Amino acid sequence: MSSATEPIGQNLIKLISNVCFSVFVFAVLIFTVVAITYQPPDPWLESSKALTRVFSSVQNATFQTDDSLLKTGEDLIPSPPFSISISPVQSPPPSIQPHICSPSPSFLNCSDPAVLAAIQAFNLRIFKSIVFLDYQTPVPGSSADECDVAWRFRNRKEKSWRRYRDFRRFKLTVGDNCGIEVTGAGKWHSGTNARRQQRLKPDPGSGRVPARIRDEDINDTIPTVGSEAEFRKGRYLYYSRGGDYCKGMNHFLWSFLCGLGEATYLNRTFVMDLSICLSGSYTSTGKDEEGKDFRFYFDFEHLKEVASVVEEGEFLRDWRKLRKKKNRIPLRKVPSYKITPMQLQKDKSTIIWRQFDAPEPENYWYRVCEGQAAKYVQRPWHALWKSKRLMNVVSEISGRMDWDFDAVHVVRGEKAQNKEMWPNLDRDTSPDALVVKLKQMIQPWRNLYVATNELFYNYFDKLRSQFKVHLLVDYKELWGNTSEWYNETMSLNEGRPVEFDGYMRVEVDTEVLYRAKTRVETFNNLTMDCKDGINTC
Ligand SMILES: *[C@@H]1O[C@H](CO)[C@@H](O)[C@H](O)[C@H]1NC(C)=O
Ligand SMILES: *[C@@H]1O[C@H](CO)[C@@H](O)[C@H](O)[C@H]1NC(C)=O
Ligand SMILES: *[C@@H]1O[C@H](CO)[C@@H](O)[C@H](O)[C@H]1NC(C)=O
Ligand SMILES: *[C@@H]1O[C@H](CO)[C@@H](O)[C@H](O)[C@H]1NC(C)=O
Ligand SMILES: *[C@@H]1O[C@H](CO)[C@@H](O)[C@H](O)[C@H]1NC(C)=O
Ligand SMILES: *[C@@H]1O[C@H](CO)[C@@H](O)[C@H](O)[C@H]1NC(C)=O
Ligand SMILES: *[C@@H]1O[C@H](CO)[C@@H](O)[C@H](O)[C@H]1NC(C)=O
Repeated sequence: MSSATEPIGQNLIKLISNVCFSVFVFAVLIFTVVAITYQPPDPWLESSKALTRVFSSVQNATFQTDDSLLKTGEDLIPSPPFSISISPVQSPPPSIQPHICSPSPSFLNCSDPAVLAAIQAFNLRIFKSIVFLDYQTPVPGSSADECDVAWRFRNRKEKSWRRYRDFRRFKLTVGDNCGIEVTGAGKWHSGTNARRQQRLKPDPGSGRVPARIRDEDINDTIPTVGSEAEFRKGRYLYYSRGGDYCKGMNHFLWSFLCGLGEATYLNRTFVMDLSICLSGSYTSTGKDEEGKDFRFYFDFEHLKEVASVVEEGEFLRDWRKLRKKKNRIPLRKVPSYKITPMQLQKDKSTIIWRQFDAPEPENYWYRVCEGQAAKYVQRPWHALWKSKRLMNVVSEISGRMDWDFDAVHVVRGEKAQNKEMWPNLDRDTSPDALVVKLKQMIQPWRNLYVATNELFYNYFDKLRSQFKVHLLVDYKELWGNTSEWYNETMSLNEGRPVEFDGYMRVEVDTEVLYRAKTRVETFNNLTMDCKDGINTC
């Protein structure tokens, strides 16, 4: 008996230990997979399915994300930031001196503090989505009962601390008891007399006023590296151009933020190329266009403030100067993304130069942040905001609708054509379906802003019998050749006019959409199709 059971007992023990070992191996495997695929939360990788897909499709790095909207740092902050340095104007000054109605009760003196107080109270009542920051003293408008006043503000829906300007014309009356009342307010930017005078100094030589007109609030000049000694003291991370060049903008950002993230991790200054190539899908010619300035799209001033960056041209010039003088600068060349950021952490070289010479897709910058590195390197989304010049256009559009509008995001384009991935999208965003659905969600005759990648302007005409429809192209004078935007971007572009391209459209559409009171999305609200294609939600 015992001789027969013995081997069985031993076998049983062997079997149990084998099973245990397998479970252990399996657990380790699961753990490893989880560790490798873990990514910090990112706007494009909201669902775990999207995450898996991006990982399994490195071969084909076309980001299947929605490219008709672009979220950047200012849209991702969970709650509005708090700033102590700027205190919003909450209410008019508590005690206003009873002023003397002279020479006659109906005389309106715009610099009288009571006028400003009346206007402030009026604004607070009307523009609930606006935080008023500072007012200038009102100045007379075009007639005796008008005053123009300028102020700075921010929108409650915008989470950056950027400030914008408005100046409006108000009609006021002085009552018998000297009370001042606002009886009417002009539209966005109507108070032209209060508009800040452009501080332009005439050129001493020719006496001519320089043509260059700049937004005083924008300072996105390119920083210089400084003296030789400073250059040597610095620590740089330099990425040479990789396969990302001329890819879609989402790809560009994904890669750029990887580089910037690695620089932050290594405590180095990121050497960045401000010249970007816009993929053909966003250009009017349909061809890739080189030489687009980063500052057309993004806020370089903010980037300079929150991250350590230096422009590539400046950097290479200084580096060349030192090399000419036979000054050896400690340099570490990194030929492959397979050398991880963690391996470079101990490196003391002045310059770490990542080269991306391998064939695609081995030459994408973002590959540096894959795998283990993803646990250490975080993409600094907060450093990336949209260009203030574009945001001025956004403010102007929202301001012209008096900040009182609803919006619908209508995704069409390629997705509507692709019946395999989005079987109902085309039908659900057809003009008739839009009218039926929007009538249930939006009050009649509201201002309705349509953010869309549908190119045919008259596509939304059926909505016009229900709502006041606004489309981005309705505002094309805001970037036309008489606009501030046109002047400002031209001065960034060595005096050559800049085209308002598809990518800028996407940015402006996104931000106007985010300022709407009621927002209707394509996916969920208009169609039950999934955002990323069939069976992804
Ligand atoms: C990459 O994706 C695009 C668009 O999704 C598709 O047309 C193309 O065939 C894909 N290429 C490969 C190699 O999978
Ligand atoms: C208007 O009011 C300001 C401030 O109260 C005062 O200094 C100024 O003299 C007034 N102007 C006239 C014409 O009354
Ligand atoms: C712009 O910012 C740079 C620092 O990035 C500063 O040195 C320069 O003085 C600023 N220029 C103006 C006009 O404020
Ligand atoms: C980062 O680098 C700067 C100088 O380049 C140095 O002063 C600072 O101590 C470094 N910080 C860390 C955390 O290494
Ligand atoms: C602006 O554009 C319009 C139409 O495109 C053109 O007729 C006009 O001459 C342009 N003006 C300037 C100053 O370039
Ligand atoms: C743009 O520049 C032109 C020429 O310098 C000037 O005449 C025009 O007033 C400027 N427009 C704006 C909106 O600043
Ligand atoms: C759109 O759908 C979301 C999610 O289902 C819902 O929370 C939201 O209220 C809808 N919006 C409108 C305007 O009905």
